[in-house]
This record gives sequence, C-alpha cells and structure tokens, in this order.
Amino acid sequence: MTNQPTLPTTRAFIAGPKRMLINGEWHDSATGETIEVLNPADGSVLCRVPNANETDIDRAVQAARRAFDDSAWSRMKPTDRERLLLRAADAIEASAREFAEIEALDNGKSAAVAEALDVTMAAQCFRYMAGWATKIEGSTVDAAIPYSPSNAYFGYTRKEAVGVVGAIIPWNFPLLMAAWKLAPALAAGCTVVLKPAEDTPLSALRLGELLQETGFPAGVVNIVTGYGRTAGAALAKHPGLDKIAFTGSTPTGKAIGHAALDNMTRMSLELGGKSPVIVLPDVDIDKAAEGVANAIFFNSGQVCTAGSRVYVHDKVFDRVMERVASIADSMKLGPGLDPSTQIGPLVSARQLDRVLGYIDAGQTEGARTIAGGGRGEGAGFFVKPTVLVDTDHSMRVVREEIFGPVLVAMRFNDLDTVVKQANDTPYGLGASIWSNDLSAIHKLIPRIKAGTVWVNCHSLLDNAVPFGGFKQSGFGRELGRAALDMYTETKSVLINHA
Ligand code: NAI
Ligand code: MG
Repeated sequence: MTNQPTLPTTRAFIAGPKRMLINGEWHDSATGETIEVLNPADGSVLCRVPNANETDIDRAVQAARRAFDDSAWSRMKPTDRERLLLRAADAIEASAREFAEIEALDNGKSAAVAEALDVTMAAQCFRYMAGWATKIEGSTVDAAIPYSPSNAYFGYTRKEAVGVVGAIIPWNFPLLMAAWKLAPALAAGCTVVLKPAEDTPLSALRLGELLQETGFPAGVVNIVTGYGRTAGAALAKHPGLDKIAFTGSTPTGKAIGHAALDNMTRMSLELGGKSPVIVLPDVDIDKAAEGVANAIFFNSGQVCTAGSRVYVHDKVFDRVMERVASIADSMKLGPGLDPSTQIGPLVSARQLDRVLGYIDAGQTEGARTIAGGGRGEGAGFFVKPTVLVDTDHSMRVVREEIFGPVLVAMRFNDLDTVVKQANDTPYGLGASIWSNDLSAIHKLIPRIKAGTVWVNCHSLLDNAVPFGGFKQSGFGRELGRAALDMYTETKSVLINHA
C-alpha cells in the first residue's frame, strides 16, 4: 500500500509555503492564522494554508474590482483572452500527474482516476471556454416604435461581462470545480475571487501559480483559502461582487442566495442531489449492475449527481441487486495514490461520521444491509461500499443526500409508479434510465424532473452539454453555451437615426 507521491514536484509543492493569491501577489492571512490540511487516507497533516477572514476577502474583492474596472484585462482583445485560456489548458495538462497526486493526497480520490478525469476535464474546460471568448455576441432588432412618427430606429444587444465574480467551490472535485467557475468567467472577461473548500484547498493554490505564470494580469484571478462560515460568508455578502457562483450543499446554497439577494448579486447555484437510477426489466443483468454500482461508488459516492437511489423492476430486482452487492463487496479500499485502489477514503472525519450516521439510521429504520455497512480498516476515513434494501420513502436514507458510498434500493412494477417515486424528492439534479426499450425510455425522459437524464450511463459530463439542477438542486446552468449567460449581462441599445 503506497501513500506517497512519486513526483518530486508534488513533494516540493506540499512541503513549500502556502499563501493566498491576491492582486498577483502571494499573501499570508491578515491575522497570520492557518488551517491544517489533512490527508484523508491516514488522517495525517499534509501542510497548512492561510485562514482568511473578512479583511482578506475584502482585499481580494477590491483587487478583482480594480482589475475589472481599469486594467489591461478590460481592454484586452477577446483573441488575447482566448490565447491565455488555451495556455492555461496546456499548463494544466503539462502538470496533470502533479495535480492528480495533489488531489489524491488532499481529497483521497484515486490519482489514476483524477488524472484521467478530473484533470483532463479541467484542462478541456479551459480549452472549450477559450473558444467562447471570441464568440460572445448579441443580436440586432429592426425596432418599430408605435408612438413615434419616424420609423428610424435601430436596436441591438450587447453581451457584457457581468463584472467581479465570487466563486465558492466544494471538496469533491476540487480542481475541476475551480475550472468550471474560472474558465467561463474569464472567457466572458470577468475577474474572480475563488474560495476553495477548507478540506481541499491545495489544487486551487497550485492552479493559481500556473495561471500567474500563464500571464493573467494581476487581480484577474484571486484565490483565498478559509472556512465557509467566515471567509465564504464574507465573500457571499460582499457588496463589491457582481455575481456569486457556488457549488455545494443545498442549505449552504440557500444561505449564500439570501446573502446575495440583499445586494442583488447575480447568482448561480449548483446544489445537492438524490439522483434516481431506474432499471427496466429488459436489461442485461451484469451490465446494468455494473452501471448501478459505478453510479453510486464513483468518487466514494461524493458526487452531486451520485445515483444514490436505485429503482429496479420487480422481475430483475433480486438478480441485479445481488450482483451490485457482490461488486460492492469486491471493491478494494485504499489510498488514492495506490494504483490498485478502487475506492478511496471520504474527504474528512466529519464526512465519515455523517455517512456512518446515515448507515446507522437506515439500519435502525429497518433497512437490510446486503453489502458493506460500516467503516473500513485503518486510520483513514474509509467507509465500505454499502447497499441497503427493504428501504422506502419514509426513511432518511432514501430522502436525504448522504454523499458517501451508500446505495438504497427499491422495487417497482410499472412506469407510473417509478416516475412518482423518482420525483418524490426535493432535489432534481440527475437521473438515469437503464434499458433498450426506446418507447419506455422516451416516455420516462420528459416525466423525470431533473436537470440531466442519462440513458445507459450515469454522471457523464461534457463541456459542451449544460449542467444544472431542477427544484432544490439549484439555479442556472454551467458548461456549454449556457455557462456564458451566467457570466454576462445583456445590454439593449436603441438608436434613433431619423
Ligand atoms: P458546504 O456546501 O457547506 O461547503 C461547500 C463550500 O461552501 C465550501 O467551500 C465551504 O467553505 C463553503 N461554505 C460553507 N458554509 C458557507 C457559508 N455559510 N457561506 C459561504 N460559503 C460557505 O458542504 P460541506 O459542509 O463541506 O458538506 C456537507 C454536506 O454537503 C455533504 O455531506 C454533502 O451532502 C453536501 N455537499 C454537496 C455537494 C454537491 O456538490 N452536491 C458538495 C459538497 C457537499
Ligand atoms: Mg484534505
């Protein structure tokens, strides 16, 4: 079992001083206080990062404001913004293994998966959004004003950068979430204050170094590390922001939304989920079971779209769930840096307690455990991949977001029932349907209340496909062309040329 990075650059970064990026310079926190950064695979302290307070946040917002209002950045041609974003993508790719090792150490996830997925998608996000920098456009209107004698009006719209963006991101995909916020904001010409999660601040700081080297002007990207209730809350309520972009839990999203509304700060919120997985009776049992297992156990279940509720048709329920349980039992727990690891630790002791608490609650409420059911071995924050059956919609494990490797399984007999069950949740982020029955699939898709419906796959994302939630899963869409709308304002112009 290995829990050591292989690259000297990773070791040097972890051992080096950690400061916050404000106005193109690296700073300690105003108070000099720091936060311990833990390795969830063994609970050891990796390093410390600054613990920002309101003063630090204010400095960062002011720097972003100056960079937006009066700088090389606001005068920069879209082609030059495009070039910078493309360079950033190349720089991320050139450091792919280092980023993967940092994510494995800080978050616990598999370095191999992080390199193939988190880091690759982060680089591609910068590259995809780079293309949009030169393609932001409004429309023209032949205005016909009824009460005007002349008909000599020309109308058009401009899409203008919204301004200074505050971005608050979670710990489950630290680098990727930083990319999802930074890339579209920068493509649109905004400036950003990014606050990574206190549990996983490292990849954002390393990204800040790369973006500085890439040549973004001072103050365009600021990265401030701190706790949510202090630094995060100070950022969300800062009157100097034009927009706040958040990914995380629904309760925190609501708090941020309330704070933002007081200043009419624009907001986009990507929040929690309890995404249903629907298995129809015509499936290939092994393929469906593998899909169901991946939908929940990927990233140790710490995925906003995790397929955490499975509804399997009565005809195939026992066979599918038996197979899912055997996959769960066979998964190898270990540190993310061990190439043989299939499921890493949870991010923190707090998350471990939370998830174990849900497993207990489910068992107390009458659920039967057919795989896992408790903590994994060792000092790390490991939870065994767990499958609960005999569950129903009165139970907390079925209703609430657990955010760990815990699947609840239910039976159904007809499409009307499964639609009702799938939609019986305050969330609406994702859903998947497993079947080759085109008629049934197309009947289900419009009836499922979710921002994304996958068919014969789950949690797959593409930079060109918009992503976001219905209901209490959020506000707005990230990725795709839709992301640009989140970082631009529409200005209407009417010209009398009589
Ligand atoms: P959280 O939503 O509170 O934290 C996410 C980010 O928000 C972090 O950067 C944090 O510092 C910041 N934050 C926290 N409180 C804030 C506040 N009052 N104002 C401004 N920023 C604030 O999530 P947490 O507490 O780390 O995890 C708890 C649960 O949230 C998890 O068990 C999971 O159910 C859910 N969660 C869901 C995510 C998703 O993508 N759907 C991501 C992370 C957590
Ligand atoms: Mg950590």
